[in-house]
Amino acid sequence: MTAPKATHETTKHILEQEVARYESRTPKSAAMYERAEALMPFGVASSFQVGDPYPIYMASGNGSHVTDIDGNTYVDYHNGFGAMAVGHAHPKVREAIERAAKTGTHFAATTEDDLLLAEELNRRFGMEKVRFVNSGSEATMDAVRLARAASGKDVLLKIEGSYHGHHDAVMYSVVPTMDSGSTEERAWSEPFSRGIPRGTEQHTMIVPFNDVEALEKTLAEHGDVIGAMIMEPVMMNLGIIVPQPGYLAKVRELCTSHNVVMIFDEVKTGVTIAAGGATEYFGVQPDLVCLAKSIGGGTPIGAFGGRANIMDEIEHGVAALGTFNGNPLSVASSLAALTEVLTPDAYEHLAKMGTRLAQGCQAALDKAGVGAHTTDLGCKGSITFSERKLVHYRDFQTIDDSLFDASWYWLINRGIFQTPGKEEQWTISVQHTEDDIDLFVNVFDDYCQSVTSA
Ligand SMILES: Cc1ncc(COP(=O)(O)O)c(C=O)c1O
Repeated sequence: MTAPKATHETTKHILEQEVARYESRTPKSAAMYERAEALMPFGVASSFQVGDPYPIYMASGNGSHVTDIDGNTYVDYHNGFGAMAVGHAHPKVREAIERAAKTGTHFAATTEDDLLLAEELNRRFGMEKVRFVNSGSEATMDAVRLARAASGKDVLLKIEGSYHGHHDAVMYSVVPTMDSGSTEERAWSEPFSRGIPRGTEQHTMIVPFNDVEALEKTLAEHGDVIGAMIMEPVMMNLGIIVPQPGYLAKVRELCTSHNVVMIFDEVKTGVTIAAGGATEYFGVQPDLVCLAKSIGGGTPIGAFGGRANIMDEIEHGVAALGTFNGNPLSVASSLAALTEVLTPDAYEHLAKMGTRLAQGCQAALDKAGVGAHTTDLGCKGSITFSERKLVHYRDFQTIDDSLFDASWYWLINRGIFQTPGKEEQWTISVQHTEDDIDLFVNVFDDYCQSVTSA
């Protein structure tokens, strides 16, 4: 392995230079931030949208590009935190939304489109029954409640360092500091927010990813109270961490033998890494699947579903509610996205673009001798600034933050819009072209050269 040549002085210098350049290119975003801060906490609509020294405010999107309020245009690899696999303003999605706008955008009564969408999700994920919701958080919140009811056991098992939305049950050990009582054997249920009632942590236990032994031990000791296990089959809130061969199948086996409802949170992996997400990709069928983001073609929608005997608990006293569930506008957009845009040809294109990007970036890293690696999974991929492939959250903490931070500003200043944070990854849309990919690769190649040549 090549030793990293980049020094902290170099990355610090590049970061300072690039932040100054960012500020000079985005004065209107700076002014908008002043206004927004007075009206909204952090000046943004979600705390995940914060930026330093201020976030970029967007004006429009078209195809693979977005344009900010200063008129700077970027190739979009952020893609709405992974929700825009169809790309911006796709003609088929636009048509569906316009049609829905003309025929009524909300009834709170079920339509035939809801059934068509349920059939499509069934086809992709083997969900026998589906319930629509409005976001990924709602999907995981309802799925966890349903799983607890179905198993008759209250404790939820969750993976260390995973994010499943912002409701209390899953807000433990999202970014644990590891200094609050955790041991190698037993990770601590550390809350990710103030305002979560003390005592709630008793109902969420934590295990590390890719660790069959820890799971076996936890279930052997606490299987009588653990009723549900939620996991991202590929961890996508730590860059990308893939499951080790056989791991998911073993989790499936252990959940079955301990009467634990197995929930795949496919909010990020669903319809992106394959038509049927990780469920199809790895050939492991969970009891429930949670979906959101890219299933909606850019509108807010989520869904959870799976085994009929579990879903039918909703007919026996499990609340699963929502005024906007199955909203005609979102469902029309979702149907168009899944049946007209994200077709088998589209998945071929996404895979080709993804591999071109990952291989191009890996070649740039290797040429410059930067100790980092890329991951390539359909339209998702990442650059992880660590020489070693990561296995779980504790590895993720060893990443070189300074290399990531400097690269983010370097790339945005040269027309590449990425998610703000090393815990994220790129999302390519069906509208990305080889030229879009090559721009990213070339700009990243220049970054690798600059960071190692000082
Ligand atoms: C894996 C995963 N699950 C759930 C969620 C929550 O989805 P939403 O932001 O739509 O509530 C996210 C959001 O990033 C996610 O990455």
